Amino acid sequence: MRPRAALRALALLGLGAACSSPSPPQDAARDRADDLADTRVEDTRPPPRDIPRSDGGLNIELVEERVFGFYCAVPACHSGDMPTGRMNLEPGRARESLLGVRARGVQCGATDNVRVVPGSAEMSLLVHKLEDPRPPCGAQMPLGSAPLDPELVALVRRWVEAGAP
Ligand code: HEM
Repeated sequence: MRPRAALRALALLGLGAACSSPSPPQDAARDRADDLADTRVEDTRPPPRDIPRSDGGLNIELVEERVFGFYCAVPACHSGDMPTGRMNLEPGRARESLLGVRARGVQCGATDNVRVVPGSAEMSLLVHKLEDPRPPCGAQMPLGSAPLDPELVALVRRWVEAGAP
């Protein structure tokens, strides 16, 4: 075999080998994708049910039962003695944690945001944290999972607008 032909054959052999085995970046990307898939929180949330349409019956107990107690006051989040954002949303605790209370978490604590201004959803950090993909400070809530069902977000907004009874 002529030297040049031999060289080309060798080069082709090398190229074939490079294409068949996945490159380190591809491995890393696949590993990352696997890691991400493993960390995704399974969406076990029940669909919202019989949300009252009018403000009748709209009170903090209802919002605690339908939203805070199920989506926020979960372990390692807004529950227990060291709640995230220094804000406990367990049933019976939400009122003292929210109404007229300035933000106290690491990301929002340095701002003038107030968690709930009764009567004004626009001025209430809580509503923006639920509605806005990019809230005025920190991340959208609930952290680490899909945004809440719009019906539940609307329930919270109506509760605040109704004066947060
Ligand atoms: C729909 C349910 C939830 C609501 C309404 C909610 C609301 C909020 C609000 C208003 C803040 C700002 C508090 C402040 O700075 O004063 C906040 C911060 C935070 N929340 Fe949530 N949250 C919810 C669910 C969750 C969940 C499930 C987790 C945990 C996975 C979580 C983790 C956090 C963390 C880590 C912060 C930031 C704390 C900081 O800046 O120091 N939240 N949340």
